[in-house]
Amino acid sequence: MAYTNTNYQKLSQRYLFAEIAQQVNDYKAEHPEAQLIRLGIGDVTRPLPKASIQAMHRAVDECADGKTFRGYGPEHGYDFLIDAIIQHDFLPRGIQLSREEVFISDGAKSDTGNIGDILSTDNIVGITDPVYPVYVDTNIMAGRQLRYIPCHAGNGFTGDIPQEHLDIIYLCYPNNPTGAVITKEKLAQWVKYARENDAIILYDSAYEAFIQDEALPHSIYEIEGAKECAIEFRSFSKTAGFTGIRCGYTIIPKELTSADGQSLNALWNRRQCSKFNGASYISQRGAEAIYTPEGQQQVKDTIRYYMQNAHYIHDSLARYGLTVYGGEHSPYIWVSTPEGEDSWSFFHRLLTQANVVVTPGEGFGKHGEGFVRITAFGTQEASIEAMQRVKKIL
Ligand code: MLT
Repeated sequence: MAYTNTNYQKLSQRYLFAEIAQQVNDYKAEHPEAQLIRLGIGDVTRPLPKASIQAMHRAVDECADGKTFRGYGPEHGYDFLIDAIIQHDFLPRGIQLSREEVFISDGAKSDTGNIGDILSTDNIVGITDPVYPVYVDTNIMAGRQLRYIPCHAGNGFTGDIPQEHLDIIYLCYPNNPTGAVITKEKLAQWVKYARENDAIILYDSAYEAFIQDEALPHSIYEIEGAKECAIEFRSFSKTAGFTGIRCGYTIIPKELTSADGQSLNALWNRRQCSKFNGASYISQRGAEAIYTPEGQQQVKDTIRYYMQNAHYIHDSLARYGLTVYGGEHSPYIWVSTPEGEDSWSFFHRLLTQANVVVTPGEGFGKHGEGFVRITAFGTQEASIEAMQRVKKIL
């Protein structure tokens, strides 16, 4: 007789976006005529950059020929992609990395979810609230104790530095779900806290490409001392439309050691070699292509498209009298619900009366109550139409 991991019984019945998908599908089954506009899950709608498409076509052709066919790739990822990442994402910001510090993966969701494999279940974990549910769920699965760090307009949704000791802290900027950004000064306070407490920051910067202000940090390693206390997660999903292709990467500096003196880099390498067989050669070639001059321009154009949606959604909702955050350096717009309405009830009203799908803030944590999250990843037409429909029901 096998027993299960009973920590799973402490989870909510469904993953947030699966729960929403179920509710939306139920509604659609009852109202097949409804023309739904989906601005809930942060899934992209623009096609892949042309440079990536061409590179992936070439990669497929290579695999069609025995002389250039590729089987298992290197565990860390291919050097051609690792070098492009170091060269373009880090060196221009004064951050030196060696190849061994970059781990290519199938995306930031898997890596932020799996990183706990190399960390003790006795660690106390600080979770900003509201938060991307993966950090919460995966730590509940592991049986770790969580401490929530309230994020609200009063602290710019960046959390107050805790008075208590934490071992691990998840930070995500630009933030999912609030769309907030963090300044170098505030991030430096988090780094100082981590160093003083021998804690590790798990820094998710999957949305860094949406930052519009060069003074804001794109990487935690722009902060002095961060290499000794932080792991950074990046993704090509939102930057280059890879939600379906799958490719991302994680940086674990060699300087980073645990409280018991272990190299996190060595442990993650060990973990990946045993449990992961790499992102496909084709997707890595596609990712590499975004660093070519054409690829860079195409990515910029796509980000600009989504940011126009973000500004349009932000400004429309503000005009309708709602309090609106985010959408300035982020594809997420964080909106207060109308006076006295809770986030699930506003979600249902938007779904049933406007046929617009958003994400209820409470799904991201207790401090998300009173908000909904809207994504700018829809098409321009859908974003405009959604705002017209929302206006009518307010
Ligand atoms: C979201 O909607 O929060 C994201 O799409 C989730 C993800 O990137 O996994």
